[in-house]
Amino acid sequence: MDSQLLILDFGSQYTRLIARSVRELGVYCQIIPGTTPFEQIRAKNPKALILSGGPASLSCVNAPRIAPKALHCNIPVLGICYGMQMIAVEFGGRIGGWNSNGESVDLEKILPDDGLREFGPALVTIENPTGPFAGFPIEEEQEVWMSHGDKVTTVPPGFQTLARSEGSPIAAFGHPELKIYGVQFHPEVHHTLRGKDILSAFLYQVAGLEMDWKAAGFVDEVLENTRRKVTSGNVICGLSGGVDSTVAAVLVHKAVGERLYCIFVDNGLLRAGEAEEVMQSTKQLGLNVRKVDAEERFLRELAGVEDSEQKRKIIGRVFIEVFEEEAHRIEDVHYLVQGTLYPDVIESGSLSGQTATIKSHHNVGGLVENMRLGLIEPLRELFKDEVRNIGRSLGIPDSLIDRQPFPGPGLAVRCLREVTKERLDILRIADRIVTDEIKNAELNLTIWQAFAVLLPVRSVGVMGDQRTYDECVAIRAVTSRDGMTADWYYLPENLLRKISSRIVNETNGVNRVVLDVSSKPPATIEWE
Ligand code: XMP
Repeated sequence: MDSQLLILDFGSQYTRLIARSVRELGVYCQIIPGTTPFEQIRAKNPKALILSGGPASLSCVNAPRIAPKALHCNIPVLGICYGMQMIAVEFGGRIGGWNSNGESVDLEKILPDDGLREFGPALVTIENPTGPFAGFPIEEEQEVWMSHGDKVTTVPPGFQTLARSEGSPIAAFGHPELKIYGVQFHPEVHHTLRGKDILSAFLYQVAGLEMDWKAAGFVDEVLENTRRKVTSGNVICGLSGGVDSTVAAVLVHKAVGERLYCIFVDNGLLRAGEAEEVMQSTKQLGLNVRKVDAEERFLRELAGVEDSEQKRKIIGRVFIEVFEEEAHRIEDVHYLVQGTLYPDVIESGSLSGQTATIKSHHNVGGLVENMRLGLIEPLRELFKDEVRNIGRSLGIPDSLIDRQPFPGPGLAVRCLREVTKERLDILRIADRIVTDEIKNAELNLTIWQAFAVLLPVRSVGVMGDQRTYDECVAIRAVTSRDGMTADWYYLPENLLRKISSRIVNETNGVNRVVLDVSSKPPATIEWE
């Protein structure tokens, strides 16, 4: 199937979100590296291009650039953030940034100490409701999501400014005859409230694309592909009890039946009572699950380790070792199933190698090379909400589907600095309190994730008549659609009071509770 639309990836964390939004709008699209030579782009015969954002600055000589001819061949183009800046430069506009006084300056005049940035929510005013803004009210403010350092400071000849914001006087521009448009903000991100309208106006009105993509046949396609792939032998699956690996396992179980063996590694970094719950619920789903108790081994390997990336790497390595040992007990294994989702893939390094590594996610890679197994990743292209929908359609109970995401490295990335059994036990109690109270307040479906973080910060307190010098727990509650971006959730005051007093009263070693009020970006959801 030919793609009507190509997304040129310049390394943005959000590239896949663009693809998903486009897919949800019914248009089939493909992501290719931003620097793909023009001949290869032309060979794919696209009817429109979207240029993604990216972490580079065009002021750098080796910044990735689009093949210029691709912008001069009568194909409609929408440039997002870095993509917009590239269009500006190619057509003779200028880009710049901010100096330390908050004034706009050309990039070459920026001093090393300058470089103010615009991250998070912003308001743009639509000046010219054409192109992707067709139908928008003129001079009305729109809530958008910004994440950039550089910006366009001079519109290229023949282009018009379409929108402005306080930080970016040229927040969007366009050339209606050439059908080339640029937006400084991110329409693909959920927090840009009318982002879908902007993309749909570009797809349907500007580029004249048609709806031709349906996701309904996804399950049938996975079953057919898996049956065709696994012609003989057995399949193993690393089950965590989370939504992703459970949905992946149930899908593959449907395709290969009793030839699927699931392995659940209890790494001692799980929440209170979680291991038992996982075993019970997966048995009810008819899955054949083996549990490995590896708490001691993980804690031994983590002893004395404080660096977050090192923790993640150790947990990833030990998981692989433990998993492999158990897998070798099963005969004739040919394939491994992983519940990898798209955000795991993109946050561990981009499709085209240009995205900065934010965190090492241990569920990507590793096992397959070691064990010389084929890989089955039925959810690799999907986002969490899509996986939840598929899980529901497979009859997996809501109690499992609606579980909040939990990171592979578990409580280790919420137990800042050293991970010890004692500190984990404190965190488990605090985590259970947060989880229970959020559930009691019926907020667990509104909130994407809510949890406690144990901080290695000691402060003075007073309990009874005694001075205490104990650690601190941070409460983190965020809303999100896919984990790629997130906003902190304003928990009601009485709920916060209850959680805070219960944590201090019911744990031993915590005398202070604080609230995390950071969005992603610039923070991440987990603290490590
Ligand atoms: P961050 O902290 O990167 O998290 O904003 C985004 C989402 O991913 C989850 N997370 C992980 N999930 N393995 C996982 O399977 C990991 O190593 C991992 N690290 C973070 C996190 O809980 C959030 O939902």
